[in-house]
Amino acid sequence: MNPSLRQSMNEYYDERAAEFDEIYTLGKPPGTVTDPELYKKEARSLAHLVRVHCRGSILDIPCGTGYWLQFYAANCSAITLVDQSENMLREGREKARKHGVEPITTFVEADALEVPLEDRSFDTVLVGFFLSHVTDSQIALFFNTLRNLLKPDGRMLILDSNWTRYRGSRPKEGTTLRTLNDGRKFEIYKRYFEGTDFDRMSETCGMDFTVRHDGKLYLGVTGTLRD
Ligand SMILES: C[S@@+](CC[C@H](N)C(=O)[O-])C[C@H]1O[C@@H](n2cnc3c(N)ncnc32)[C@H](O)[C@@H]1O
Repeated sequence: MNPSLRQSMNEYYDERAAEFDEIYTLGKPPGTVTDPELYKKEARSLAHLVRVHCRGSILDIPCGTGYWLQFYAANCSAITLVDQSENMLREGREKARKHGVEPITTFVEADALEVPLEDRSFDTVLVGFFLSHVTDSQIALFFNTLRNLLKPDGRMLILDSNWTRYRGSRPKEGTTLRTLNDGRKFEIYKRYFEGTDFDRMSETCGMDFTVRHDGKLYLGVTGTLRD
């Protein structure tokens, strides 16, 4: 991905931090809203997956505002929140405080593709809506890192955008303009997945994937290390 596109995406998310959760809580995604209730319902389905699959020492990467923390906090003994955005991490700190887990939470401002963390230290790695912003080669690099960070019996939970007819006329992959509530526009790279894409990625990522939620808008996929 070219550096200026990456820079634009990083700025976009940093500037969007204060309004980011609206997609989950108000069903208000950037771009055309088809049906807010659908977004909210799908977010609840993903929250259920987070409750069921996230436990122990968790790495939430990249964490954004830490929206999913409220659903895994009670199951986790240690929490690591990673994001490139200072504003997102500030929101994440607020969530950790609100849910009483700040003392067991570590905040890391870093590039998720080159994250400086200890090998084999996580029971769970949560990857929410990140793979859809990176290219195939970046995904391979990312999984190379994550495989080392997971404990041998660890588990990954991936949440991302599903490629379905509810996406309307959007392309499956490409650059697109996103608009903030105040009207500022940013170019970003966005792709959508189907469950079968994870079969294809299984080999290159060294993981066995299982689709747990195949919804109208979102996908939830667990991954374990391949033998
Ligand atoms: C769509 S948000 C998802 C946030 C959260 N995981 C969720 O599911 O709500 C994408 C996040 O990825 C972060 N991000 C994008 N590229 C990154 C990178 N290379 N390293 C670290 N964070 C990155 C952005 O700052 C943003 O917070």
